[in-house]
Amino acid sequence: MLVVIKKDYEEIGREAARMVAGAVRSKPEIVLGLATGSTPLGLYKELIALHRAGSLDFSRATGFNLDEYLGLPATHPQSFHHFMEQNFFSHINLSRQNIHIPDGTVSHDYDGYCARYEQSIKTAGGIDLQILGIGRNGHVGFNEPTSSLASRTRLKALSRETIEDNRHFFSSESEMPKCAITMGIGTILESRRVLLLASGRSKAAAVAKAIEGPITSSVSASALQMHPDVTFIIDEDAAYSLTQRDYYRHVLEMTEIFTPERLS
Ligand code: PGA
Repeated sequence: MLVVIKKDYEEIGREAARMVAGAVRSKPEIVLGLATGSTPLGLYKELIALHRAGSLDFSRATGFNLDEYLGLPATHPQSFHHFMEQNFFSHINLSRQNIHIPDGTVSHDYDGYCARYEQSIKTAGGIDLQILGIGRNGHVGFNEPTSSLASRTRLKALSRETIEDNRHFFSSESEMPKCAITMGIGTILESRRVLLLASGRSKAAAVAKAIEGPITSSVSASALQMHPDVTFIIDEDAAYSLTQRDYYRHVLEMTEIFTPERLS
């Protein structure tokens, strides 16, 4: 695993955008795994700026989002459909037919729907580059603690902590969805490359457990230790509880010398 520690939120957005832009340029028909939340917003702003400057073309790319709240239509202001439209898709030239987000309005045969989402990822050739945030409880996507490390796209009940973290976006707790459709950890582990972004002291414990703790379903992100190409791009605050920061810097220096393509 590569652990890239940057000064602050702005720097992680810039660094992640540099890597994502490099990946899009080297494979224009790239399949991107996309995440919502406050963390990837900085990345999306940077990618939009590169696109506007004329140096980044998404016309042949495909996007698969990680998750969506169950019960929210695409038009709901708190839906992840709305988030992606507002903060990314309406500003770039990703073709509409290449945008995939789990449908929050599914109301029956959840397993069948989720199996079809998985199949559409496979049909597109699999995810080349998966972008992830991390929850305070170590979740990736909505894979809450104790999610099977082999899980696939499915309906998932949200944890108390996630409901508390997100309820301020809704006018009342009763409006806050209690379930979501999310790619599974097994789905995420099949992507060819993973970039996990984290910012702020509130994420420090989860980041330390994910990188330095044991692999456990209690911390979904720890499953990334089994992935051969993961880069954590985190700021100083999110890196606060890591015990081997000097070593990660050394690894990075050696990577820059011997295998710079891993950072491009
Ligand atoms: P955040 O969410 O980026 O808004 O902190 C991350 C997550 O819960 O995955």
